[in-house]
Amino acid sequence: DHMVDRLEETLKAQRQFVADASHELRTPLTALGGLIEMLLLGADRGDRATSQRALRSAHREVERLSRLVGDLLTLSRLDARPTVERRPLDLAALVAEVGEQTRFLAGEREVLWQVAGPLPVDGDADRLKQVLLNLTGNAVAFSAKTGQIVLRGERVGSRARVEVADDGAGIDPADLPGIFERFYRGDKSRARRSDGGAGSGLGLAIARAIVETHGGTIAARSVLGQGTTFTIELPLADEPAPATRPDTALATPSEAALRSR
Ligand SMILES: Nc1ncnc2c1ncn2[C@@H]1O[C@H](COP(=O)(O)OP(=O)(O)O)[C@@H](O)[C@H]1O
Ligand SMILES: [Mg+2]
Repeated sequence: DHMVDRLEETLKAQRQFVADASHELRTPLTALGGLIEMLLLGADRGDRATSQRALRSAHREVERLSRLVGDLLTLSRLDARPTVERRPLDLAALVAEVGEQTRFLAGEREVLWQVAGPLPVDGDADRLKQVLLNLTGNAVAFSAKTGQIVLRGERVGSRARVEVADDGAGIDPADLPGIFERFYRGDKSRARRSDGGAGSGLGLAIARAIVETHGGTIAARSVLGQGTTFTIELPLADEPAPATRPDTALATPSEAALRSR
């Protein structure tokens, strides 16, 4: 029976999720345990520089753990209640905000954004911002120090489209179908990423879950060695009836190209 099949599938997926999550949690915990044990046993021989190094390392593992637990919580909340708060928001403003924020994280990389006019959407601004930050975070992680990251926002029919493009390492065609799966990391992604392999493989799964609860789609295209572009499409909020809409809004779309190429 179809319903039973689907229930079985869901349960199987949940079991897999718990198994994968436990496995992911164990890695930083093992590292932490080792570092603490080392300090307890006095393996630093009272050398302050050595103990500081161990503590800094332990601190990084704690940060990784909290990021991981935060991501797991986000996913399990979305699993439990796949609905979002729907408030009017301007996706164009969100793109600019994320562009600004990404610049701080991007080092010497060039971060540009270009949005034509407002993109009114009903949704959860915090979560949609998280989606864009996950994408720009990847763009930073998988591009060269001198790379370029471009965010674009535009209307396509009745949808708002946002693209996040980088000129980085790209994604192997063999990896591309899997990247939105939970815990999926590209085969060589650890070696290629510039932030020391800190990823848990949950960023894109979270992005997809959030976008889909908004009735939208997310997709990736990539050329290995040349770069990657992620495209999000969300339904535009119902626009005001044509009669109440001033013609000038159509005649002079406000160009919010905060910084063009
Ligand atoms: N902009 C990108 N450039 C190259 N590879 C990417 C990019 N974004 C995602 N990927 C690939 O998709 C995988 C999954 O991404 P994500 O879910 O964010 O996990 P994480 O960043 O924790 O590895 C990455 O491990 C990487 O292989
Ligand atoms: Mg990521």
